[in-house]
Amino acid sequence: EKPWELAAHPRLPKGRTVAVVVLDGWGEAAPDPFNCIHVADTPTLDALKKAAPERWRLIKAHGTAVGLPTDDDMGNSEVGHNALGAGQIYAQGAKLVDLALGSGKIYEGEGFKYIQQSFQDGTLHLIGLLSDGGVHSRFDQLQLLLQGASERGAKRIRVHVLTDGRDVADGSSVRFVEMLEEDLARLREKGVDARIASGGGRMYVTMDRYENDWQVVKRGWDAHVLGEAPHRFRSALEALRKLREEDPKKASDQYLPPFVVVDGSGEPVGPVRDGDAVVTFNFRADRMVMLAKALEYEGFDRFDRVRFPRTRYAGMLQYDGELKLPRHYLVAPPEIQRTSGEYLARNGVRTYACSETVKFGHVTFFWNGNRSGYFDQNLEKYEEIPSDAGIPFNVQPKMKALEIAQKARDAILSQKFDQVRVNIANGDMVGHTGDMEATIVGCKAADEAVKIILDAVEQVGGVFVVTADHGNAEDMAKRDKSGEPLRDKDGKVQTLTSHTLNPVPIAIGGPGLAPGVRFRTDLASAGLANVAATVMNLHGFQAPDHYEPTLIQVVDE
Ligand code: 3PG
Ligand code: CO
Repeated sequence: EKPWELAAHPRLPKGRTVAVVVLDGWGEAAPDPFNCIHVADTPTLDALKKAAPERWRLIKAHGTAVGLPTDDDMGNSEVGHNALGAGQIYAQGAKLVDLALGSGKIYEGEGFKYIQQSFQDGTLHLIGLLSDGGVHSRFDQLQLLLQGASERGAKRIRVHVLTDGRDVADGSSVRFVEMLEEDLARLREKGVDARIASGGGRMYVTMDRYENDWQVVKRGWDAHVLGEAPHRFRSALEALRKLREEDPKKASDQYLPPFVVVDGSGEPVGPVRDGDAVVTFNFRADRMVMLAKALEYEGFDRFDRVRFPRTRYAGMLQYDGELKLPRHYLVAPPEIQRTSGEYLARNGVRTYACSETVKFGHVTFFWNGNRSGYFDQNLEKYEEIPSDAGIPFNVQPKMKALEIAQKARDAILSQKFDQVRVNIANGDMVGHTGDMEATIVGCKAADEAVKIILDAVEQVGGVFVVTADHGNAEDMAKRDKSGEPLRDKDGKVQTLTSHTLNPVPIAIGGPGLAPGVRFRTDLASAGLANVAATVMNLHGFQAPDHYEPTLIQVVDE
């Protein structure tokens, strides 16, 4: 095994406090009315940019630079924080599932063989996000899995669909449900009893994360597992149409109320029963862990499940390596090893990490290679600030930026930590709502939070790294190939709620930064994975050889 001890950096001192600020959903794009970061008042970030190219630059945050299948894949927080924390580029869930489906290996694995035992007498339930966003799941993967499972004996299949509108355009759920219905009809022609059984909008049903609001998961449980929901329709398409007509504002794809599909006599077509197989087909962990717990744990008590069917349950991936959750899975997750968090802990670096609930796991779990918990209790402290559950982020666009900044400030001033790491969520969470005005307010709040942290760094003679995990708020318009905003029939610009392909900024500075430190000029296509080595250097260590190279050099002044 490689040694864990890090060599001292030849030029950079140990013992500086290093603040690492991740602005979530904060990319770089040309000035434009739909660039909320540009429109917002952001004096702190603007000042940092003036240090270009020595102490401000752009890095890649999407596509193959973060282990996604292609450079058409936008960045996201999971792969972004994985890369930032691990300092290495791993093939990520999206790609691993593609490979396993492409080679057929997925059907030879333990996980598939396990669920296959239910195909003879039971139903196969597939639960997940219906979208081609490629962030949590992908539609073509679901299609292949449906086909592969039916060819391998699944005779009764029920799909439980979560509509997106967040990683893809709002309203696109109709197209995905139509395409899915076509596939299911083809399966029926081949004698497979295949139907959509239930659904709901991802932000209101099932896909909560980091235990922000268990009610979201309960609504999903009731609809998918119990077959109970306030709305009952004969088909998912009817559900989309009627629910959107009833309340077009509230029933966006992201927030569609839960529904079940019923047969001619009003009976739900697909509750989960003893002996059934269940697959959650999202590859990304954060928004499936809570449901996975409800599906897997005997002694689960976060809400009343009413009925706990004995199923054979498998995740598309294993979502938490530490908890081994779920026990069965179709594709082995990326084995993210030797993260910077673990290296630094083993080299005595004391770390404080903080965010609000909705991003807390990003700077802890994702940062540490999808591991929950501490590497070293005595050296690390992770603090979560409760998010306002149930309040839309465009209603509270400042979120907990100020509170996070104050916690970070206190941690810096306490001098008890060598690294103080935060995620500030506004650009992303408010950006996803598609509400431009609110996003502008959110960006300003994020900038003010950075200011508080940089002031604290100044006071203790520390160093800062300000960067981001992927783009979002810097572009709120869907665009054609030439970059012009797309308009709908009424001439209104189409809103982009998703992340982007844009690069993100990284800025370094602070009174503790050795005067000769500059960004290197030979790493034009560097990405998020280059940040970990950079941060190690700022702590006074050389990065391990297997890391992506550091972004900085020390020149003689
Ligand atoms: C979400 O889960 O909120 C979005 O799909 C992706 O956002 P994130 O990658 O910024 O968390
Ligand atoms: Co996001």
